[in-house]
Amino acid sequence: MGNRQGSLEKVVTNPMRVLITGSMGYVGPLLIHRLRKTFPNAELIGFDTAFFAHNLTAATKLPESLLDRVHFGDIRNFPPDLLDGVDVIVHLAAISNDPMGKEFEEVTEAINEKASVALAQMAEQRGVARFVFASSCSIYGAAEGRPKRENDSLNPLTAYARSKVAMENALRINAGAMTVTCLRFATACGMSDRLRLDLVLNDFVASAVATREITVLSDGTPWRPLIDVSDMASAIEWAIKRDNDKGGQVLVVNAGTNAGNYQVSDLARAVATELPGTRVSINAAAPPDLRSYQVDFSLFAELAPASQPVVSLLQSVKNLHTGLTEMQFSDREFRESSLMRLKTLNAHIAHGRLSRDLHWQ
Ligand SMILES: NC(=O)c1ccc[n+]([C@@H]2O[C@H](COP(=O)([O-])OP(=O)(O)OC[C@H]3O[C@@H](n4cnc5c(N)ncnc54)[C@H](O)[C@@H]3O)[C@@H](O)[C@H]2O)c1
Repeated sequence: MGNRQGSLEKVVTNPMRVLITGSMGYVGPLLIHRLRKTFPNAELIGFDTAFFAHNLTAATKLPESLLDRVHFGDIRNFPPDLLDGVDVIVHLAAISNDPMGKEFEEVTEAINEKASVALAQMAEQRGVARFVFASSCSIYGAAEGRPKRENDSLNPLTAYARSKVAMENALRINAGAMTVTCLRFATACGMSDRLRLDLVLNDFVASAVATREITVLSDGTPWRPLIDVSDMASAIEWAIKRDNDKGGQVLVVNAGTNAGNYQVSDLARAVATELPGTRVSINAAAPPDLRSYQVDFSLFAELAPASQPVVSLLQSVKNLHTGLTEMQFSDREFRESSLMRLKTLNAHIAHGRLSRDLHWQ
């Protein structure tokens, strides 16, 4: 361990080499921007199969232009030599939500678990010092009672959530000498150069902008912890820099803030505050939504006091409103559009560009 720690300290003051998998997604552009600013001399390398690369929404400049190199490839066929000299891996590449996980269950396991575990093993063997993994609070699943802490039992309800549990478990076993940080992120929200509208808050803002109406499909009571996508980037930066005495060599930590546990009806109300005149209809007769959970983020507050989420719910809504306005967004049928990741994958398949197992043709 001592050697690796020493080598990281050396590279943090000298140029360090950071590989970001899944760099061309929703989180990637904000992360690239942040890391380029914090580590101006670092060599930043992107790796992505580019399922959504063309879905640029608010960009005035290609986000990847801040990277030193981009490799187009699939982590299921990851070229080991790419790890030569790499100090840090930030692993974002994944089939990244429940609807895609449901439609592509085996692929989700192949990418999010098998290929991801193989990447971590390769990283350890090749002397990578740090591995930062984007996990998810969705692994708590239906969680009655008090907000969930890291050591509480997990209840993954979907293929996506199960794959995140499997990867966390594999990282605990395969860490070797690497410093590993699994950030169990709250549900993301907010503006990005590759905006997604398949996230609850983003959906509400888009709906309010396009139709002046928000329809809450549940009775509005389910709990969702939220984190703005720019605060996700800040948490990842912290994980890249953290000392092992802040959380140990292998750390699993909920990433978000206690104040960021909202009920779905709170989210709808926040959007209506920013966009006055929005009609909110709540389905009081809806059956209980199983995906309700509150999360305890105290450990993250204790370990990373200087990297706590700073973007308020209202600010996320404002940023989305501004971004959508700049895009001249007005699509009432946006849930059928390329701003939904599953729709993009299915369009690739329908046009023969991707196979059913999500390999480019
Ligand atoms: N957005 C959220 O709410 C949220 C919450 C918690 C955790 N996370 C996790 O954070 C990470 C990033 O999320 P995001 O919202 O940017 O996801 P995203 O779907 O927008 O981006 C994922 C990227 O990974 C790439 N990718 C997928 N399979 C690949 C493969 N086999 N090889 C190479 N690249 C591949 C895609 O092309 C895409 O650019 C994911 O691991 C996700 O599970 C996201």
